[in-house]
Amino acid sequence: MPRKKSLRAIVLLAALGAGACARTPAPGLARGKELFATCVPCHGSDGEGSQELGAPNIAGLPKWYVQAQLQKFQTRQRGVNPFDTVGLRMRSMSRTLNLPGDVESVAEYVSTLTRTPAPVTLRGNVEAGKATFQTCVACHGPDGHGTESVGAPPLVGQADWYLVRQLHLFKKGWRGTDPRDIQGGTMRPMSLGLDDLSMTNVVAYIQTLK
Ligand code: HEC
Ligand code: HEC
Repeated sequence: MPRKKSLRAIVLLAALGAGACARTPAPGLARGKELFATCVPCHGSDGEGSQELGAPNIAGLPKWYVQAQLQKFQTRQRGVNPFDTVGLRMRSMSRTLNLPGDVESVAEYVSTLTRTPAPVTLRGNVEAGKATFQTCVACHGPDGHGTESVGAPPLVGQADWYLVRQLHLFKKGWRGTDPRDIQGGTMRPMSLGLDDLSMTNVVAYIQTLK
């Protein structure tokens, strides 16, 4: 009977192989859209974000940035501090993107969403913020649209409360301190010279950019 047994084993293996292939969806926009359904509870159906949940506006962020951030959450470079309960929400979520191509597919889909600027929730001294922003333009660009070559994301249209929170995270060393996080490491020193008031002011100025 050994022959019959090995034949059965081969048939079984072939069936398993075919099953595995069928279960690995082709990467791309369609797969990205499907995956995006898992983001909606926090980031909203248009990717607009939710202040209540601390989830930023991700609609229309460039694919390279979304992909990089998802990888940082997945590889424990971001959202790891045990006191950072908001970041932890996103990190556990990132780990569900576990099939080959998932991160790329969902990043591509997110980048196609139309960005509606988040509503203004804070007031600051726009003139003072404009002066501070001159130290940001080298990387984020004069209009806050970001620069891919240095990994600096667009800031325009992002929720003000989220931007302020990220500046605090960089300053506290909860973001941008992992030795593997090269881009975060270039941003962190920029946050160190900002006190609460200058953070509010610079973000208030960013909210005036189109
Ligand atoms: C359980 C709620 C939750 C879910 C579900 C979720 N996120 Fe998030 N996401 C967050 C929170 C909260 C943050 C902000 C973390 C912080 O402030 O550090 C975040 C941050 C992000 C960022 C960083 C944006 C930036 O400007 O740096 C990206 C990109 C992102 N999420 C993409 C996704 C994608 C894509 C999905 C679906 C696959 C998803 N998220 C699902 C809560 C969630
Ligand atoms: C030397 C280049 C550089 C300068 C100058 C710089 N940044 Fe950044 N900034 C970055 C990079 C790179 C990132 C992305 C870090 C990462 O990948 O996590 C970033 C990220 C950010 C984020 C997080 C955005 C998000 O979606 O999560 C904020 C907010 C921010 N910068 C604000 C500022 C402000 C305000 C200034 C000026 C005071 C400034 N940056 C100056 C390079 C820079």
